[in-house]
Order: sequence, then C-alpha cells, then structure tokens
Amino acid sequence: MHIGIDFGTSYSAAAAIIDGELQLVRFGATEQFRTAVFFPELVPDPADFQLTTELEAQLETELRLARARQREMATAAAARGQTPVARSESELRREALRVVRRQWMEQQTREATASVASFQHALFGEEAVEGYLDSGGGNLIESPKSMFGYRLDPQVRKVIVHIATHILEHIRLCASRQFGVPVRGAVIGRPVEFRSSMGAQGSEQAIDILREAAGVAGFDQVSFLEEPAAAAMHYHKSLEARQHALIVDIGGGTTDVAHAELGGGAAPNIARSWGLPKGGTDLDVSISLHSFMPLLGKDSIRVPQHQFVEAASVHNLPKQREFRKQDYRLVDEPYGTRLRALQELGATTRLNQLAERTKITLSTAAHHRAELDFIEHGLAVEASSADLDAAIDTFLAQLERTLATVRGDLAELPASVFLTGGTSRSPQIKARVQACFPDIPLVQGDPSLGVVSGLAVAASEAAG
Ligand SMILES: Nc1ncnc2c1ncn2[C@@H]1O[C@H](COP(=O)(O)OP(=O)(O)OP(=O)(O)O)[C@@H](O)[C@H]1O
Ligand SMILES: [Mg+2]
Repeated sequence: MHIGIDFGTSYSAAAAIIDGELQLVRFGATEQFRTAVFFPELVPDPADFQLTTELEAQLETELRLARARQREMATAAAARGQTPVARSESELRREALRVVRRQWMEQQTREATASVASFQHALFGEEAVEGYLDSGGGNLIESPKSMFGYRLDPQVRKVIVHIATHILEHIRLCASRQFGVPVRGAVIGRPVEFRSSMGAQGSEQAIDILREAAGVAGFDQVSFLEEPAAAAMHYHKSLEARQHALIVDIGGGTTDVAHAELGGGAAPNIARSWGLPKGGTDLDVSISLHSFMPLLGKDSIRVPQHQFVEAASVHNLPKQREFRKQDYRLVDEPYGTRLRALQELGATTRLNQLAERTKITLSTAAHHRAELDFIEHGLAVEASSADLDAAIDTFLAQLERTLATVRGDLAELPASVFLTGGTSRSPQIKARVQACFPDIPLVQGDPSLGVVSGLAVAASEAAG
C-alpha cells in the first residue's frame, strides 16, 4: 500500500485513498503532529565541555603526573648518556587537557546510557516538546526539515537522517496499524526550494536525506511531489470546469507557488512552480526579536545583536549552541540574570512557543500578553497588532516580490488563487496575496490538509 506524506517544517500528516475515499492517518487523537522528536537520551556534545573547578583540579593532577613522567624520562635518558627531549609547559598542558576532555566525554556517555533505556523511547509531536520541557534533559529536535538543506558535517548528517528515519517510521507504523496492511510505498511532499545554505545543492541534499531515511524506515518505493503541485491535485477535484489556477502554499518553513491547468475531465497539468524559502517560523523569530528580546536587553545593552538572533532561532541547532555557550555573568542587571535564565534547558523553546502564540493571537486580536515567569517572576510581554505589523513587514515584502515575479512570468492572469498552508490563516497574509491579484477570486483551502490530500491522490495513482 502507498500513502501520501506531508513532511512539514511545523506539522506532518499522512493520508491514503481507500475505496475512492480520502483517509487521514491518525496519530493518537490528531490527524497531524508537530514535526518534533524527543530523545530522552543525553547524547554528549564535545562543545559543552567546560573547565569546572573539579575538572580544573583534574587537569592539575594530570599536569603534575606529566611533569613527573617527563622528569623520570629525563633522568633515564641522562643515565644512558642521551639528551632528553623536553616538552614545553604549554605542550604538557595541552596534552593534559586532551586527557581530561576525553575522560569527561566517556563519563558523559556512561551516564547517558545508564540514565535511559534507549532511542526506542522517542516521543513525537506535542508530546516530544512536553517530554523535553518536563524531563530537564535529553534532546529535542523541532522542524528537522529546516536543516536538510544546510551544509552538514558527516556526523551531523547522520543524526539528521536518523531523526528523519524515526519520523517516517512513526508515520509508516501508524498507517500500517490503522489500515491493517503493511504500508510500503510513499509519495512525499517537497518544497519547490528547500531552506538551504548551498543554493540548489541544498535541495538535492534534502531529497537524498529523505530518500535514505525513507528506505531505512521501511518504504520500498518512494517518490516526491512538489507541495503546491500536490495542493493543486486536491483543488482540481473540486473544479467542474477547466481553468488556469494559481496555488499558493504558505507553510512553516517555505512558501510555494504553482501555476496549473485544473478541473474538467482532463488530468491536472502543472505548468510551473516558484519557491520562497521563508514561512511561519521566520515570523516567530521576527516577533521574538521585535517584542520579546528587548526584555532580555536587545537594543539596550552591549551584547551583539546576532546573539539575540541565535537565541530566537530554535530550529537552528548550531545557533542555539552558540547562544548557550555565551557568558553573561558581567552583563548589566536585570539583563544578565534574564539572559542566563534563557540559557537554561528548554527556555528558548518556551520563548519560541510564546512568540508563535503571540503571532497567532494577534492575527485576529488587538492585544496579547505573554508571561515570562520562567525568565523572571512577573515579567511579561505586552504586544499589540501594531507590533505584529512591524514584525511581519519584511516577510510581507518578500511574499509580494515573489508574487510579482509569478505575475510577470504568467502569460495571462489565473482564474482563481487557491490558498493553503497554516500561515495562510493570517488575515494580514491573505490580504497581501489578494492585493497582488486584485479582482481575482481567492479560494481558501483547508490550511492544514490541502497538501496531504493531494499527496494521497498521487500515492494512489503511484500504486496503480
Ligand atoms: N492564525 C495564524 N496566523 C499566522 N500563522 C499561523 C496561524 N495558524 C497557524 N499558523 C502558522 O502556520 C505554520 C504551520 O503551517 P503548515 O502546517 O502549513 O506548515 P508546514 O506544512 O509544517 O511547513 P512547510 O510546508 O513550510 O514545510 C506555523 O508557522 C504556524 O505558526
Ligand atoms: Mg506544508
């Protein structure tokens, strides 16, 4: 059996067509889950190594031993009439530090394996985020799709493939259980352009990662379909007469557009697609920087701006690591204490959740208050719709430029614009799309399920 899989930046879903009917795969009580996985296991990170007082003492012991060994060797060499090879104090220190660091890594690994059963205990979706916040340890990976197109060293690439495998296996097992047959094939959605640090090469790497992970997760047949093309297949089903339509999918990580000839008796014909590798998660970072980070000192203390960006970028593991390594002990109060509280495990995740909630609430309300008690008792952000407007301005301009390019590339205007993707729930975003195509009917599809429904159609066709 084949299923369609929408491996989203923020949410993932899967579906199949059974006896001509769309059937969504259920994950517990829901039909989509947050694309997050939590491994209770503490995987030691060499970058976390810091000389504590205890390790400092260990280093001194190592150094004393090394000096003693050097003296013994010098005496032995002199007894043989040879000139002893003397190593400098800094060489000895470097070597001792290497030994202490190695012992520390071994110790961390031992503790990690002893403390939890294993990778088998991964949690997914909201449960993953809760598990992480409750446990005070382990690893939470949110939105791994955001990293597929980035330059990854081989070790990190392995971890990313591993995470994608877990998510795809979770989907495959849930679907097989629900449908009562082994699921072996999948049509997986892909953005037109993945978020990437290497241009087009990033998208190639992303597809390689997904293909490899799907194979390990037990899928024998895998193909890919651009997400807006999938949404187009879904819209196609609802159109009686043939028409040229524009599909706009504004998701968590990317904004994807397709131009297609749809409806009527003939098969859908996807003519062209465009991608903007920006989406709702970028809006969360913008809100965070605009309304939250000033309470942590942004714009008032001499901490470089990029450190606030690193703190806000919860989906970028290297940036998060950079932020957590900073030393804020000498920063003016109250900001020093607040920044140190934000470095605590889980705090940036909490702050990001509040920023996302603020964005969603302000899309329809004039005011929103977010409590930051986990940073400081009584601390809160008061944000208004004017703050949302200021924070999403850059994204709206990017969206407008992309749609202007699309318009310029089309020989004639579409008969309708079909909107899908979670970010299309925002009235401000909808209004901007409409402004780019005035007088053309805007059709609001299901923001969450437009893409997966089309992927299910494609999967049933792939299965023959
Ligand atoms: N009312 C709202 N206003 C603005 N944004 C919203 C609203 N509701 C949900 N969102 C945003 O929608 C995004 C999720 O959309 P969606 O599920 O389509 O993304 P995805 O498919 O996971 O991502 P992608 O397709 O980019 O990989 C999140 O960033 C979420 O905050
Ligand atoms: Mg999507």
